[in-house]
Amino acid sequence: MKCKVCRDAAVIDIRRHNANFCEEHFIRYCQQQVLRAIHDYDMLEPDDRVLVAVSGGKDSLAIWDILLDNGWKADGVYVGLGIGTYSDTSLEMTERYARSREVELITVDLRAEHGFDVPTASAETGRVPCSACGISKRHLFDSTAVSRGYDAVITGHNLDDEAAVLFGNVMSWQTDYLGRQRPMLPARDGFPKKAKPLMRLTERETAAYCVLRGIEYQIDECPMAVGNKHLAYKAALNDLDVESPGSKAAFYLGFLQRAVDRFEGDSGRGDLGQCARCGAPTDAAVCAFCRIVQRTEGAAAAPVEVVIKRYAGGRRRP
Ligand code: FES
Ligand code: ZN
Ligand code: ZN
Repeated sequence: MKCKVCRDAAVIDIRRHNANFCEEHFIRYCQQQVLRAIHDYDMLEPDDRVLVAVSGGKDSLAIWDILLDNGWKADGVYVGLGIGTYSDTSLEMTERYARSREVELITVDLRAEHGFDVPTASAETGRVPCSACGISKRHLFDSTAVSRGYDAVITGHNLDDEAAVLFGNVMSWQTDYLGRQRPMLPARDGFPKKAKPLMRLTERETAAYCVLRGIEYQIDECPMAVGNKHLAYKAALNDLDVESPGSKAAFYLGFLQRAVDRFEGDSGRGDLGQCARCGAPTDAAVCAFCRIVQRTEGAAAAPVEVVIKRYAGGRRRP
């Protein structure tokens, strides 16, 4: 196996591009894919101050690394979700990386600063853990970026994530979500600009990038993602991609090129007001995050294992 660029020994094959790369040219390939996404979708200006939403996993650390190496002033924000040892390790990996690059890391701890954690929110609201997790992360990334004057929030969603979300939305014809599934959403209505510059790279590639760059990351999947349908969609798309390399990328990138605009009419958020409690933009009197804060006030902390058991298999157990 030889590198497509220099003919030295290759360390990875990328079947959808019919190419093999050595270490140096694979790193360059990853950077080029990110720069192409940023260019094609007008994600960032060279002098934008960006806030990278970091989880300690391979994707968010890879994109942070690539943005720093390409000259962006990029700080990180980490949200402590209170998911037992998984959260402890994730924070440790994130802090280790931030120290190694001497960059600023903002940490927000849900329990210490907002009085709840994801397992407790799930137990109190009766909703899957990922619901409270997603609401909390989106709210805290957005509010941190707006209050500290960042130009954009960057998330580490990769090609597999986006293709799986698209697959799920198509399966149930969620046309309003389809209209919103763009890799860049401009700032509006009090929300910051949001971009996903890893949209052209697969998880296998971001993992390889971290290994080759010597970046240590949280290897475990979130234990609360048990039964999450996206994992099944990802597996199905990966099976297809083995049979027909490139089909996953064609599905998602083809949707962006040829179909997403057809759903534009459904993508509006409607008229937004301000949350009575925190001032964040919302279409309700109190935003979804503050409703969790209110629902969990005074609640005893729910053990992680108990909540995981309840949702194992994708269904809530009575
Ligand atoms: Fe959201 Fe685990 S509950 S990542
Ligand atoms: Zn090479
Ligand atoms: Zn609020």
